[in-house]
Amino acid sequence: MSIFKSDILQGKVAIITGGGSGINLGIAKALVDHGASVALISRTQSKLDAAAEQLSPDGSQAKGFAADVRDVDALKGAIEKSVEAFGGLDILVNGAAGNFLAPAAALSPNGFKSVMDIDTLGTFNASRLCFEHLQKRGGGVILNVSATQAFMPTPMQVHPGAAKAAVDKITEDLALEWGPFNIRVVGIAPGGVEGTEGMKRLMPPGMDEKMRAALPLGRFTTTEEIGQVALFLVSPAAGYITGTTLVVDGASAMPLSGVFWTAMRQWGG
Ligand code: COA
Repeated sequence: MSIFKSDILQGKVAIITGGGSGINLGIAKALVDHGASVALISRTQSKLDAAAEQLSPDGSQAKGFAADVRDVDALKGAIEKSVEAFGGLDILVNGAAGNFLAPAAALSPNGFKSVMDIDTLGTFNASRLCFEHLQKRGGGVILNVSATQAFMPTPMQVHPGAAKAAVDKITEDLALEWGPFNIRVVGIAPGGVEGTEGMKRLMPPGMDEKMRAALPLGRFTTTEEIGQVALFLVSPAAGYITGTTLVVDGASAMPLSGVFWTAMRQWGG
């Protein structure tokens, strides 16, 4: 289901880091279904090839270029190949992220650094390297994928929480500095998304049903729903939205929402 015309992004080119799976693949699908061409960048070429094939069987609208966002030279190479393959760049989605559950007292400094490097530095690196390409087209959009951990203290998530809070700050500052170049910089902060690597990694075993029951809407979101919101944010319909991160979490990150909701349900039978 889409409220947008299927050609709203016709002729637009997007780079999507972390685009081989999960939320970012959902965003890629929404963009391709509305006319855009997408270059997917992440570490594993075979995974990217499979995702590109799924999005665009004839390869005309999707291609994969392997690079780790922590490796600036490799990332620069993949961005240049993407721009060459599709003839320019209009949209960058910074989706590459790393995560695992770890109590702060047991988290190694290198574990913390790895997630900061992927999420925060990766977002800056790709944005910085894409700036000149967006500028050449007279402007564009950068969409940063954040997470509710950025503003909601979350147990065993100090590393992604700190990394995504910094990503949200990058969204604000780049919007300010790059607005005059007609580049909008926006963010999306999903709550739990069904069927993703993040959900697999972050859901304590056997807790799915209990967690869903504690959510205000009684369910997590989907890659399709996040894809539709991302599509809106990168589309001309959101032309005056910049420097802000849209929370798409079904009110799950409102302070103590889960605790109150569980209590109300028990009280109401
Ligand atoms: N618990 C605690 N520490 C962990 C960990 C875990 N589950 N997984 C990795 N680490 C630590 C490692 O021990 C290492 O620290 P050390 O050198 O002090 O031992 C550090 O993190 C780096 O680990 P490594 O496996 O070498 O990093 P990597 O660069 O190959 O992988 C990660 C990056 C750590 C983010 C990895 O989890 C990953 O690749 N994830 C895939 C993407 C992903 O997480 N997607 C979900 C997004 S929501």
